[in-house]
Amino acid sequence: MPVTAVVGAQWGDEGKGKITDLLAQEADVVIRYQGGNNAGHTVVNQHGTFKLHLVPSGIFNPNALCIVGPGTVVDLKVLCEELRNLEAHGISTANLRVSDRAHLLMPYHTLLDRLDERERGRQKLGTTGQGVGPAYADKVARHGIQVYEVRDPKRFRAHVAHELETKNKVIERFGDKPLDAKQVADEVLSAAATLGDRIVDTLPLVEDAVRTDARVLLEGQLGAMRDLDWGIYPYVTSSNPLAGGAAVGAGIPPRYITRVIGVVKAYSTAVGEGPFPTEMHGKEGDALREMANEYGATTGRPRRVGWFDAVAARHAHRLNAFTELAVTKLDVLGAYREIPFCVAYRLDGRTTTDMPPTAVLERATPVYETCVGWCGALAGVSDRDHLPKAARDYLAKIEASVGAPIGMVGIGPERSATLL
Ligand code: IMP
Repeated sequence: MPVTAVVGAQWGDEGKGKITDLLAQEADVVIRYQGGNNAGHTVVNQHGTFKLHLVPSGIFNPNALCIVGPGTVVDLKVLCEELRNLEAHGISTANLRVSDRAHLLMPYHTLLDRLDERERGRQKLGTTGQGVGPAYADKVARHGIQVYEVRDPKRFRAHVAHELETKNKVIERFGDKPLDAKQVADEVLSAAATLGDRIVDTLPLVEDAVRTDARVLLEGQLGAMRDLDWGIYPYVTSSNPLAGGAAVGAGIPPRYITRVIGVVKAYSTAVGEGPFPTEMHGKEGDALREMANEYGATTGRPRRVGWFDAVAARHAHRLNAFTELAVTKLDVLGAYREIPFCVAYRLDGRTTTDMPPTAVLERATPVYETCVGWCGALAGVSDRDHLPKAARDYLAKIEASVGAPIGMVGIGPERSATLL
């Protein structure tokens, strides 16, 4: 059984939650490998509609072990709230484990994220304000606090106090009130106590899963265009959503990952700042946003919307070598008689299908080809062959321009509305 990575191939919000929820029904282990509670994975199933921020989408399969992996940054308080909410809906969270090597996203990270955005002014990045950037910055600068440290409260308190000495200077310089070390430590330790022995060394669990041929699912957050190394820096997140990041972030040797599913929406959306070449503005954009309910799952911000960008999706494919694509929200495009499809960029008088660096991308304009729409609903269609011809042609165009075959097609929000 392959180890499968589910990776976003656009700007995030491609519908990974739905695809992971579907695949997780057959999985033994589901691991979130990067990011923090900036994620908002919307899952609609027989239990209701959920927006998962840290908990792997596999939580709805009572037989799957769900791991918040070592590559994540974890706000323990947010995690506990999320678990409480799931339990209140009758979902057991007994199978959740948190890597003791993950980094803690501390209350001061959240504050610093917001202050940093404020200071950037017009150059702001449009982060989710959850503290993810500052938490990873501390990790890389070797000022981070790993989850295992909560096991020794005395040492933990001293570490927090030490970190706050410098953090508070920055906070005060930004004109905000310094944080109290005891209060910060209390808050984190209390959440850690709630999690209790669910905080573990996850490596033996993962190693055992691979050794016994268990079905492992690696769940990414965000997409290639927001990858720290390959996205639109600096308008990126502070970790690597790419499949390469999955190996390190889950703690799984790369050669075991044999299936990489790239998730793309049938059009494009982005939340936050940065270039977005196929963006629709004005009424045209508003119409698609409303029709498809494109609002951020974590922040509620209206998502920017645009046509499908094959340059971006191909960029993701070059970096991930997708074994297959999952296309989501195809049904939404049923509203259009003609569908512009970006096949290349015009840049300084030439045409390119390579993804340029951010400041250059700002100057790029999309080269569109027009696809014929199918003008109708797709509800009730049960396999790809029974889609209207124009919809099949649209999918074939995605396959040809990205270079990977499509294995799944979403035609509605429910788990069942997926053509396999
Ligand atoms: P951060 O990850 O909160 O630091 O935000 C960095 C960039 O990634 C911003 O443009 C955010 O809007 C974007 N971002 C972060 N998480 C998500 C997500 O779950 N969906 C879509 N965009 C996100």
